[in-house]
Amino acid sequence: MLTDAQKARVEELLSQMTIEEKIGQMNQESPSIVGGFSVPFPELIEMLNDGRISQEEFGQIMSTAKRDFHEDDIRAGLVGSMMGDDPVKANELQKIAVEESRLGIPLIMGFDVIHGLRTVYPIAIAEAGSFDTDLFERTARVAAKESRAHGIGWNFAPMLDVARDSRWGRVSEGPGEDPYLASCFACAKIRGLQGDRSSAENYVAACLKHYVAYSACESGRDYNTTSMSISQLHNVYLPPFKAAVEEGALTAMASFNDLNGVPCTVNPYTLRKILKGEYGMPGFVVSDANGIKECVTHGIAEDDMDAGVQAVNAGLDMDMGTHIFKDHLKQAVEEGRVSMEVLDDAVRRILSVKMWLGLFDNPYVSEENIEKYKKLPQEHVEVALEAAKKSIVLLKNEGNVLPLDRKQKISLVGTLAANSEEVIGAWAMSWKREDCVTILDGMKNAGANVTYYACGGPEGEINYDEVKKACEEGDVVVAVVGELVSMSGEASSKAETGMPGRQREMLQAILDSGRPLVTVLMNGRPMALGWEGEHLPVMVEAWHLGIQMGNAVAAVLLGDENPSGRLASSFPYVTGQCPIYYNHPSTGRPGSKSKFTSRYLDAPFKALFPFGYGLSYTTYEYSDMKVQETADALEVSVNVKNTGDRSGTEVVQLYMQDITASLVRPVKELKGFTRVPLAAGEEKTVTLVLAKKDMGFYNNEGEYVLEDGKFNLFVGANSEDCLSEQVTVKF
Ligand code: NOJ
Repeated sequence: MLTDAQKARVEELLSQMTIEEKIGQMNQESPSIVGGFSVPFPELIEMLNDGRISQEEFGQIMSTAKRDFHEDDIRAGLVGSMMGDDPVKANELQKIAVEESRLGIPLIMGFDVIHGLRTVYPIAIAEAGSFDTDLFERTARVAAKESRAHGIGWNFAPMLDVARDSRWGRVSEGPGEDPYLASCFACAKIRGLQGDRSSAENYVAACLKHYVAYSACESGRDYNTTSMSISQLHNVYLPPFKAAVEEGALTAMASFNDLNGVPCTVNPYTLRKILKGEYGMPGFVVSDANGIKECVTHGIAEDDMDAGVQAVNAGLDMDMGTHIFKDHLKQAVEEGRVSMEVLDDAVRRILSVKMWLGLFDNPYVSEENIEKYKKLPQEHVEVALEAAKKSIVLLKNEGNVLPLDRKQKISLVGTLAANSEEVIGAWAMSWKREDCVTILDGMKNAGANVTYYACGGPEGEINYDEVKKACEEGDVVVAVVGELVSMSGEASSKAETGMPGRQREMLQAILDSGRPLVTVLMNGRPMALGWEGEHLPVMVEAWHLGIQMGNAVAAVLLGDENPSGRLASSFPYVTGQCPIYYNHPSTGRPGSKSKFTSRYLDAPFKALFPFGYGLSYTTYEYSDMKVQETADALEVSVNVKNTGDRSGTEVVQLYMQDITASLVRPVKELKGFTRVPLAAGEEKTVTLVLAKKDMGFYNNEGEYVLEDGKFNLFVGANSEDCLSEQVTVKF
């Protein structure tokens, strides 16, 4: 990670630091709100939440408050990191750290840049469905450049939680249900964020989160407990983190949840043994916001001091959101509860990341760079548009209603179609309204003959007069329905993931009119769409696609883009099927028509739309699957033919099943994929290589094992629709 000269510089600094300065490096601050009101800020939030004050009163009080940027503490060397996205403020604070603190150690500025800063691109669950690793890398590079121009050297991304329960609102932020796809996503994001070090303005340090198994929260309820076998942890939840560290990821964020009884903030097994020990992550681990203090609430620590001691000893290096390290670590060291070696290790890691970022030599954002990114660079907008187009999934197209003809009179309904705030998706904070293209804007930009009718949306009543008008006046109705951005993301778990509000009734009314209906979904989770799957003839999954959403959706609806996105997560019929995922372990009684099998009385056991699924305006045919064994790999080839009359891109997917093993294995596991462009009528032989070393699994001792025996290989268009071959492999 560092040259010898840089390492020596870190050691030299470390040797000069007082214990207070060392602990200061382990302290992250965000601007706090001071003055203007007589209760502490957290209580004010509580008052807002429990209704003691209204939103208006809160706004009024806040307008009288000031922000404390902790200048005095920075000057005293008591702050190692700040949060924020304002480059001018970043420079001001950095100047205090560099010029006025005793040792002049720069701050590292961290921020949540999950799917873009100014150039917001699709939420991760959508982008993952493009199955395009080159794209994953390019969107991250855009985010890195814009971050640096805003003074941010450290992105709290990528979010790598493999998520199989769409009740959990944060499924939107991660790359879906599959560990292999998530690992490919992880590596590409690390290359994009950290890879281009040709100039200090091009790269940031990544922060892998949420480490680990946060997405396995019981009942899909955010912050809830998680419990699983060691083999499941290693086979499902850890792989993207491991892959990212192998790709060079420098830092990680400990998750809020407890894992098998030990909160991840104070978990020596996951932090010190696995992440820093076995994987060898060279940088540091930050807590999630307030995470250390929450260990007292978890009941694993008796007080703040105890929580801080457990955290730092477990391998947590930086405190986000509490002052527990700042207030208690010195005493803990003096009492021998934390050794100086442990403290030095944490500080060394933090200084090393700052050194790697070049902050010691180049701590400020240049005026030129600030100026350059005040307006969105066209090349960034183009990447966002490409990502948005490639993330759209065509779910149903009965009667080939799509693509639409520009000359058709299109009635566009649903408030989501015309609200620029709703294209953005969860966890994006630095976008500007003027950059956002709604579906209505996009359709107009594309020259469609479109009229918008404000018929209703996820919230509130439906205006049936408008619905009637829309149906009467249009040749076709495009209904944009789904979830508000606020319905997914952090603290947005749902016990019912079906269509919110009265949107189903609106869709029924349009169906009743007899007008052709195209349904476009905007949502941050795989929703339970049993009714929609049965009744709606045409469905397009458009997620929350970012600033270019409208242009991308218009391109697909009008046929300028042949959809090629696939689902990175299975869609259930009903919420009660959650968690649902294609790569579940084999049961002794696989679900079938017969009663005493793994099934439901009142719902299908399969997904409505499975992982990897997505249609196109053309059709593809698979034939002639062959498996060729080499010394260290299996080469799986298949012929794929575009049998329609339009060019398109097919996502060819390779799956494997270990038929008999010492632990029950998944019915299928994704092992490879590739995007294959095919002109109308064109046929290609596609070869995917499965390295033998990747055919093993982790046992309950956390050891990776390769077991000889029979394997099924599958190649096809999605996790259900595949050709297969059986092979016997000796390792
Ligand atoms: C809480 C969230 O869980 C995490 O994803 C985020 O990075 C931090 N807060 C910082 O905003």
